[in-house]
Amino acid sequence: MPYVIAIIAGLSGFLFGYDEGVIAGALAALHARFSLAPLVEGLITAAVPFGALFGSLAGGRLADSLGRRGALVTAGTLFAAGAALSALADGAAVLCAARLTLGLAIGFAAVAAPLYIAENAPPAHRGMLVSFYQLAITLGILGSYTAGFALGDGWRTMFAIGALPGAALALAMLAMRDTPRWLVLRGRDGEARAVLARSAPGATAEELEAQLQEIRDAARAPHQNAAAWTALFSRRVLPATIVGVGLFALQQLSGINAVIYYAPMVFAASGFDTHAAQLMATIGVGAVNVAVTVLAMALIDRIGRRRMLYLGFSVTAASLAVIAVAAASGAAWLNAVALAGLFAYIAGFAISLGPLPWLMMSEIFPLDVRPLGMGLAAISNWTLNALVVMLFPMALSAFGLALTFAFFAACCAAGLAFTRLYVPETAGASLEQIEAKLSAGAAGVAGARG
Ligand code: BGC
Repeated sequence: MPYVIAIIAGLSGFLFGYDEGVIAGALAALHARFSLAPLVEGLITAAVPFGALFGSLAGGRLADSLGRRGALVTAGTLFAAGAALSALADGAAVLCAARLTLGLAIGFAAVAAPLYIAENAPPAHRGMLVSFYQLAITLGILGSYTAGFALGDGWRTMFAIGALPGAALALAMLAMRDTPRWLVLRGRDGEARAVLARSAPGATAEELEAQLQEIRDAARAPHQNAAAWTALFSRRVLPATIVGVGLFALQQLSGINAVIYYAPMVFAASGFDTHAAQLMATIGVGAVNVAVTVLAMALIDRIGRRRMLYLGFSVTAASLAVIAVAAASGAAWLNAVALAGLFAYIAGFAISLGPLPWLMMSEIFPLDVRPLGMGLAAISNWTLNALVVMLFPMALSAFGLALTFAFFAACCAAGLAFTRLYVPETAGASLEQIEAKLSAGAAGVAGARG
């Protein structure tokens, strides 16, 4: 059973990363075919995060009405349809519509897949399975970069490839049952018992009944979505809201997706003359992202969250600043500095700014407002993701690489102060201790210092 869940997590995460990264390899060919202005280029690229913003807003409701399984079948179908439509596109408008569809699929899957995993996975494997989802995103990005390199001008094939894992996700989910929790919510207790029995083959009838009763009790608890949005700004919850929204804002303002979506363009602006060299360097970025994510998974519970954030913000700020200075001084060795600098940057990101906002948003919100708080954090993530991705080509042509990267470096440096002032240490603490620590911090202005 965990293997099946891992495959679902892997496919959803891979598609998320593939559809984010595929534009990097395709943009040059799209330029040649449709001669895109920077604004149109930004719109085509940002259509994915914009679609994901709407998808994540509607994803929770979809996962409740159609079920986790139904939401993932829908997402898989949209992934396949969006990939096919972008492969067949005959202009910028169709490309935008196709990529909005892909974004919608990402948004749905980014809510429904972790829910499906968390509600189905045996507790002992849950952490591993959730991190596996994260790793699959970085593997999808690397996969799209490799396709971009291997296929050259073949942008239609690059987009079309995404249809296969999309169809696989939809078909795999059609063959699955929904989660016991959703089935109980729908009064389908018999099916819920059958699912539980399959995931724990050795369990006795009494043990199964006890598990089922636990789910029934939880399902009967006051519905968590009933909490009002204003609760997120109450004295008790505000410190958590600041951390959840702020960490995602900083994650995106660090410029990560300027690099992930536009890496070849950044390398071109840094003196890499041929498209092949730009794509090779881009694959390097994707590979470092995967390798360091594996390292982060091993370290995440051993080193404190605050220390990891200090490390991540320092490395990303310093490496971006070095690239900005080299670009401003017109150094002849800018390409070497950019390569080393971007590898250091992506490593600094993957070790902390990548995984930590996702992890901390599930730790910091009190139980009664957790879904709302996580929803607001997701809105912060996708809104800034879309803005950065949409504005980057225009910023690059209006201000140049040096100033644009200096801005991202300043945001990373601001992350150091944000961590010091607002982020509590949550490693090793129970969720109740974290809640108490954060509310105390609200009265004393600053969060607890670890
Ligand atoms: C971020 C994405 C980013 C990815 C890169 C994620 O944690 O939310 O915006 O593209 O990391 O690996």
